[in-house]
Amino acid sequence: MLVYLNGELIPSDQARVPVDDRGFLFADGVYEVARVYDGRIFKMPEHLRRMAHGLAAIRIDFPEIGGLAQVGERLLDENGLRSGGATIYIQVTRGVAPRKHAFPAGVRPTVFLAARAYQDAPAASWEEGVAAIRYPDIRWARCDIKSVALLANVLANQAAHEVDAFEALFVRDGVVIEGSHSNLAAVIDGTVVTYPRSNYILPGITREIVLQLARDAAIPVREGPIYDHELFRVQELFLLGTTTEVMPVVRVDGQPIANGRPGPVTKRLIELYRQATR
Ligand code: PDD
Repeated sequence: MLVYLNGELIPSDQARVPVDDRGFLFADGVYEVARVYDGRIFKMPEHLRRMAHGLAAIRIDFPEIGGLAQVGERLLDENGLRSGGATIYIQVTRGVAPRKHAFPAGVRPTVFLAARAYQDAPAASWEEGVAAIRYPDIRWARCDIKSVALLANVLANQAAHEVDAFEALFVRDGVVIEGSHSNLAAVIDGTVVTYPRSNYILPGITREIVLQLARDAAIPVREGPIYDHELFRVQELFLLGTTTEVMPVVRVDGQPIANGRPGPVTKRLIELYRQATR
């Protein structure tokens, strides 16, 4: 497999990042995961726009970001990924410098891209829905930056994994905000409700697309809180994400959501999203 590192395409087992890379020492960087459907990169401009937002927020100067779409295309060609499913992973860190907290002067960012074949979760996850757990939102207050500092997400997702649940849902101040690697939406009184864009969630690209698909299909949409104390009174619950797509959640902490089956709005949005991607 060939990966891209700092201007070169090289075999992944030869790709090396120095131990003084600030991504390694401080998680001082941002990343993106884009999906490839049948050889076509889905929503790459949106992913690069969000990455540019993150880079600006953490003050990494990387004007060449626009060229990464082309790098992604080359990786698909070179790795024979023009058919079937794949993902493109992009990471930019502040670069390599002796360990000091403040920004180093005159370093170039480390830029890494990899394209990999991607196997979807089993079809049953979408047909029957998945389980989730709740987990305290111990993340920082800039969740809008897609930082590689994912320790809270890792701990939450591991807790889910240990009880055979698919996702951990972060709860902050009595509100179920989003998942460890996906956004969250509920159907409440027939309206799709999802947490508003703010510093407390990652502004998901899937979330944005699905909200628009819902509006276009005359399904009412509201950006607002899903309260923890109302979680078991919602009609439907679903996750939104690049790899997750639109995924029904039918149990939380072992208790069923509604009748424990994916609901009609979720099913409709799964369908509409599939049409948009394929
Ligand atoms: N995760 N919220 C969080 C915390 C995420 O990590 C993600 C994506 C999302 C959904 O965003 P999008 O629809 O743009 O993928 C929401 C990626 C896929 C990951 O870390 O693997």
